Amino acid sequence: MSAILQTRNLRVEYRSRELRQPVKVALAGLDLEVRAGEVFGFLGPNGAGKTTTMNVLLGFVPPTRGTASLFGIDVRQPIARQRIGYLPELTYYYKFLTAEELLRFYAKIFGIARAEANRRIAHLLKLVELEAAAQRPIKSYSKGMQQRIGLAQSLINNPDLLVLDEPTSGLDPLGRMKVREIIQRLKNEGKTVFFSSHELGEVETVCDRVAIVHQGELKAVGTVADISAGHANLEKAFLKIVGCQAAPAPAL
Ligand SMILES: Nc1ncnc2c1ncn2[C@@H]1O[C@H](COP(=O)(O)OP(=O)(O)OP(=O)(O)O)[C@@H](O)[C@H]1O
Ligand SMILES: [Mg+2]
Repeated sequence: MSAILQTRNLRVEYRSRELRQPVKVALAGLDLEVRAGEVFGFLGPNGAGKTTTMNVLLGFVPPTRGTASLFGIDVRQPIARQRIGYLPELTYYYKFLTAEELLRFYAKIFGIARAEANRRIAHLLKLVELEAAAQRPIKSYSKGMQQRIGLAQSLINNPDLLVLDEPTSGLDPLGRMKVREIIQRLKNEGKTVFFSSHELGEVETVCDRVAIVHQGELKAVGTVADISAGHANLEKAFLKIVGCQAAPAPAL
C-alpha cells in the first residue's frame, strides 16, 4: 500500500512575539506515514504535537524544517489538499443555519453542481444519522449531533482522506459509538481516515494502525496488537511509552 500522508523529519517551532521568550518546539523531527485505505489513530498526551501536525497538513502552520506531503504532493502547494476533508478540534458554524443549509453552503464553496449537491447532502445526512433533524437549526443540536454535522461537512467534497482532530471529544458513549460507526463506514467506502484521539479504548476497536507521539517525536507506530504486546492493553502501553506509570490502586 502506498503512503498518502507523509511527514519527513518535520519540525515546527513556534516563536513568541514577546522578546526573550523561548522558542517552543512543537514537532521535533516527526516521521509519519499513513497508507491508502487505513484508519490511522494519532495518539499522544496533551501538547504532544497532534494538532500542530494536522495544521501543517492543512497549510495553516509552515514547517520550520522537514517536509509534509499528501498524495505525494508537498503541502506547501494548495492542490495537495484537493482530496482531503478536515474536522477541526473546535468547530464554529453559522448556528442559525439548518444542517441541510450548512451542507448546501459548503457544497457551493466547493462549486458542486446543484443536482450532485442534492445527492451528496442526502447521502451524508443518512450517513451521520441526521435526516430527521435536517431542517432544524444547528444551534438546537446536542454536542454529538454537532460533531456529526461537522463530519458530514468535512465529507461534502467527497474526499479520499479524512483528517479528524479529536472527533469524539466530549461525546457520551453513544455519541462516540456513532462516530466510530461512521469511521468504519468511511473505511468501507474506501476512504483513508487519520484521526487524533485520547479515547484509547475506541482507538483499539477502530484503527488499523496507530502512532504515539510525545514531545513532538514519534515514540511508537504499528498495529494496536504490536504496540500493546507485553502490556495488558493499549492504555498501559501508552502510559509506559510516554513515560508515566499508572499509580497502583489504593488499598481499601
Ligand atoms: N500557536 C501556538 N503558539 C505557541 N505554541 C503553540 C501554538 N500552538 C501549539 N503550541 C504549543 O505546541 C505544543 C503542541 O501543541 P498541539 O496543540 O499540537 O498539541 P496536541 O497534541 O494537539 O495537544 P491536545 O491533545 O491538548 O490537543 C504545545 O506545547 C502547545 O502549547
Ligand atoms: Mg490538539
